[in-house]
Amino acid sequence: MNTYTTLLVEEADHVLVVKLNRPDALNALNSQMFDDLKAFFSKDYKDYTFGSVIVTGTGEKAFAAGADIKELHGMKAADAERLSSKGQSIYKLIEEFHAPVIAAVNGFSLGGGCELAMACHFRVASTKAKFGQPEVNLGIIPGYGGTQRLVQLIGKGKAMELLMTGDMVGAEEALRLGLVNYVVEPEQLLDKAKELALKINAKGPLAIKGVIRCVNGYFVPGVDGFALEVRSFGELADSADFTEGTSAFIEKRKPVFKGN
Ligand code: COA
Repeated sequence: MNTYTTLLVEEADHVLVVKLNRPDALNALNSQMFDDLKAFFSKDYKDYTFGSVIVTGTGEKAFAAGADIKELHGMKAADAERLSSKGQSIYKLIEEFHAPVIAAVNGFSLGGGCELAMACHFRVASTKAKFGQPEVNLGIIPGYGGTQRLVQLIGKGKAMELLMTGDMVGAEEALRLGLVNYVVEPEQLLDKAKELALKINAKGPLAIKGVIRCVNGYFVPGVDGFALEVRSFGELADSADFTEGTSAFIEKRKPVFKGN
């Protein structure tokens, strides 16, 4: 198991639980945490197969309370653009990760924390979760994809309101808006996320990768998502997993997928 300065990683039953671990700063995302997340998704677990990832926060209070404001303070245009590009590219790694990445939002999910949750494939929240993009309170805007993914998830009007007011919404409101898929009691949060992860882990991993690729394709300018679906559908038909899946159905047994 790899070790990180700002992340705790635990694995059980092919589910990796990644805990953002700066509880004294409400898990604020500093440059070290960005480096750790990048190493996790682009290097250390790049080829992680037959499994899912759950991202959550340590402590009882926060998923992540945003970018580390102490690091932002004093920043000028060139540094800010570099940071925004870096944050966007790391969150894109998460969004495009081949295996499911589920956010288990346990508390404050603000600014870069909300953007991180939105970069995950879907979100489960505890009743204590609070979501918001309060950057305007600091005289800036979200820089890690928040202006785009919030619109994608909840629509333009409500996104405009939340981005302009900086208001937080609670878990139930987030559920109503479509920002999260489930709201559960705090002590059930990881169990709920794991239940979903295990359900997905039983499917063909290549098919899950195809779902992620095609759904993401919907949002990429210039990409014809329907054409991408045709191509992916065709590629999957050549896989041993497809033969296994259809054979298992006909033989009335559970499929054993091998990821090829
Ligand atoms: N960056 C750096 N440190 C942060 C932080 C952030 N985004 N959010 C919280 N912290 C730190 C606080 O400075 C404090 O540290 P200290 O005890 O050394 O002073 C500690 O975490 C606890 O936060 P505190 O503000 O005392 O907790 P609270 O319960 O009173 O308020 C919040 C919680 C989330 C409402 C408040 O911390 C907050 O507004 N944070 C900033 C959110 C934000 O604007 N995020 C977007 C950044 S672009």
